[in-house]
Amino acid sequence: MDLQNFFMSPKPSLTYISFIIFTSLVNYILSLDPKFQACAPHTCGDGPNISYPFWIPQEQEPFCGYPNFIIICKDKNPVLIITNDDYIIKDIFYSNQSFLVAYAAIYKDICPAPLHNVSLDHTPYNFSLYRSDFSIFYNYTSKPNYPIYDLVCASNSTLHSFAVFHKEALELHNYSSDWCQSFVDVPVDVHNGVNFTSLLLMNYTDVLKMGFSLNWSAHDYNSCEKSNGRCGFKNNEFVCFCGDRPHLETCDDGNSERNYLIIIEKFLQIFLMFLLESRQITGKP
Ligand SMILES: *[C@@H]1O[C@H](CO)[C@@H](O)[C@H](O)[C@H]1NC(C)=O
Ligand SMILES: *[C@@H]1O[C@H](CO)[C@@H](O)[C@H](O)[C@H]1NC(C)=O
Ligand SMILES: *[C@@H]1O[C@H](CO)[C@@H](O)[C@H](O)[C@H]1NC(C)=O
Ligand SMILES: *[C@@H]1O[C@H](CO)[C@@H](O)[C@H](O)[C@H]1NC(C)=O
Ligand SMILES: *[C@@H]1O[C@H](CO)[C@@H](O)[C@H](O)[C@H]1NC(C)=O
Ligand SMILES: *[C@@H]1O[C@H](CO)[C@@H](O)[C@H](O)[C@H]1NC(C)=O
Ligand SMILES: *[C@@H]1O[C@H](CO)[C@@H](O)[C@H](O)[C@H]1NC(C)=O
Ligand SMILES: *[C@@H]1O[C@H](CO)[C@@H](O)[C@H](O)[C@H]1NC(C)=O
Ligand SMILES: *[C@@H]1O[C@H](CO)[C@@H](O)[C@H](O)[C@H]1NC(C)=O
Ligand SMILES: *[C@@H]1O[C@H](CO)[C@@H](O)[C@H](O)[C@H]1NC(C)=O
Repeated sequence: MDLQNFFMSPKPSLTYISFIIFTSLVNYILSLDPKFQACAPHTCGDGPNISYPFWIPQEQEPFCGYPNFIIICKDKNPVLIITNDDYIIKDIFYSNQSFLVAYAAIYKDICPAPLHNVSLDHTPYNFSLYRSDFSIFYNYTSKPNYPIYDLVCASNSTLHSFAVFHKEALELHNYSSDWCQSFVDVPVDVHNGVNFTSLLLMNYTDVLKMGFSLNWSAHDYNSCEKSNGRCGFKNNEFVCFCGDRPHLETCDDGNSERNYLIIIEKFLQIFLMFLLESRQITGKP
C-alpha cells in the first residue's frame, strides 16, 4: 500500500489505528511536567552538575533553587561570587551538603593575589570543619626566618609578599603584621592526617588550588530525589517536581494509583474516539 492509499483508504487499517493509539499513549506518558523538565541538572561545561538548592539564572528557572544560591557560568566553569571575588566550584557533594571552591584568579592570573578576606556574612554558607587560615602578607618590610610561601611575583628585594599557615606562630617569632601594607586570610581545607612535610613542599598557588569547603543547610531533599523527583522552591516553600506534576515532599506520596487511572481513562478516550471516527469513515451505523 502506497502512502496516498494508506491515508485515503476509506477503511483505516487496524494497524494504523493501533499505531495512533500507541503513539498517543506514549506521548501522553512522556509529556512531563514543564517545571520538572526546567529543573534538570545543568553543567557549565566543566565541573559538577548543578541542581537544587543551587541554580544558574542563565540556564534554569528561579523555582529550581533557593533565591540566594546563585551560580554563574564563566569560561565553562561554575562560579560563586563571595565578597566580590570569583571562586570556581570544583565539586559539589549533595550527600553531605558541602562544596569545594577555589579562588578563580589562580587559574588565569599571572600573579594571583587575593586582596579581600572571605566573608560569609549575608551568604547561606558556613565554613566546614577543615577550614584553616592561610594568611597572606603584602609588602612586608623584612623576610621572616620562618617557613613561608613566597609570592615571588608580588615581591621585590625590599618589599616581600608571602603567606603562612598559623600567623600566630609568626607573632611568636616577634614578627608583626604591622610591618606589612595589608594582609588577608584565605581559607584552605587542611584535612586531618595531612602530610605536613608535603604541605610545606608545595608553593603558594598549589596551596590555594586545594581550595576550601563550604556547607549549607536546606530543606531535606533525599525523599524527593529518591522518588526520581527534582527539588525546587516556590512561593517560599519546598516543592518536589515530578514527571506528572509538583508534589509536596516526594513523588511517591500515594497518588500514583491515581496516575494509572488517568492513563487508563485517557487510553479509553482515545480508543473510543477512533472507534467512532472509523465508523463515520466506513459509513457503518
Ligand atoms: C551529570 O549528570 C549526568 C546525568 O545524570 C551524568 O551522566 C554525568 O556524569 C554527571 N556529571 C558529573 C560531572 O557528575
Ligand atoms: C563530603 O563528602 C565528600 C565525599 O564523600 C568528602 O570528600 C568531603 O570531605 C565531605 N565534606 C565535608 C565538609 O564533610
Ligand atoms: C553557621 O553555623 C553556625 C554555628 O554552627 C550557625 O549558628 C549558623 O546558623 C550557620 N549559618 C548558616 C548560614 O548555615
Ligand atoms: C557546617 O560545618 C560546621 C562547622 O564544621 C558545622 O558546625 C555545621 O553543622 C555544618 N552545617 C551543615 C549544614 O552541615
Ligand atoms: C605592594 O606595593 C606595590 C608597590 O608599591 C603596590 O603596587 C601594591 O598595591 C602593594 N600591595 C598591596 C596588597 O598593598
Ligand atoms: C620595591 O617596590 C617599592 C614600591 O614600589 C619601591 O619603592 C622600591 O624601590 C622597590 N625596590 C626595589 C629594590 O626595586
Ligand atoms: C621575642 O621577643 C621577646 C621579648 O622581646 C623575647 O623574650 C623572645 O625571646 C623573642 N622571641 C624570639 C623567637 O625571638
Ligand atoms: C582581613 O581580616 C583581618 C582580621 O582578621 C584584618 O586585620 C585585615 O585588615 C583584613 N584585611 C583586609 C584586606 O580587609
Ligand atoms: C610526607 O611527604 C613526604 C614528601 O612527599 C614523604 O617523603 C614522606 O614520606 C611523607 N610522610 C608520610 C608520613 O607519609
Ligand atoms: C608551583 O608548583 C607547581 C608544580 O607543583 C608548578 O607547576 C608551578 O609553576 C609553581 N608555581 C609557582 C608560582 O612557582
